[in-house]
Amino acid sequence: MISLAHRESGSHSSGGRPLVLLHAFPLSSAMWLEQREILGRSCRVITPDQRGFGGSPLGEDPPSLAECADDVLALLDRLELETVVLGGLSMGGYVVMELLRRAPERVSALILADTKAAADSPEARDVRLRTAESVEQEGAAQLAEQMLPALLGRTTMERRIAVAGRVRGLAAAAPAAAVAWACRAMAERPSSFDVLSATSVPVLVVVGDQDTLSPVDEAQAMVDALPHGRLAVVPEAGHLSAVEDPEVFGAAVTAFLDELER
Ligand code: MLT
Repeated sequence: MISLAHRESGSHSSGGRPLVLLHAFPLSSAMWLEQREILGRSCRVITPDQRGFGGSPLGEDPPSLAECADDVLALLDRLELETVVLGGLSMGGYVVMELLRRAPERVSALILADTKAAADSPEARDVRLRTAESVEQEGAAQLAEQMLPALLGRTTMERRIAVAGRVRGLAAAAPAAAVAWACRAMAERPSSFDVLSATSVPVLVVVGDQDTLSPVDEAQAMVDALPHGRLAVVPEAGHLSAVEDPEVFGAAVTAFLDELER
């Protein structure tokens, strides 16, 4: 277990509920910049850097998303937070589901964005393991360029030049060792439909309608498995819906959180 660096906004003392948001691969907590502002108006928003990314060390543990979930649990302990609303986008969502498997009592509600509950197919797993090897040999710079059209929707690639530039920079900053570790950890992850079916907490599932990595049907499959799940679709956004259309993403999360208060 390692001690995660994190960024915060909003205030707990002003009544804002604690909301922890876990970032996508191969980015960092910097991807939540706009959500720290938007959701920080009503919540204490806590955005950790997952191990190896941003300001967090990689550590020596073998690759596993269970380690990432334990890192987040240790952060909650350090911040003295008994329960939180926990959200994650893509890889962040995988870690949310792993934490739910290990410590369901620590979450009061969940946000699963542009992610999926299914395990990798054998082919997808092989691609991840090959990516880990090539990144270790050649560095991660090329991967950022290759991944960009998959991370972003076609509308963003065509029209939101500044967003594409920012995401390219964030992905290029990822250390090769962290990228390789995360690829191997994601390749090992089990299906999480069982933990979703067993959860009693409310869950908001968000997806960009142009997401090709975790498309709308994967989001719908999670909603179908959840006893208390609901779907919000972000139009004209891809895999990084929270970055591509922060206002619409933030409004969907705010409406969900407001309803929890009632
Ligand atoms: C992510 O955005 O975190 C990754 O695309 C997740 C994945 O590769 O499955």
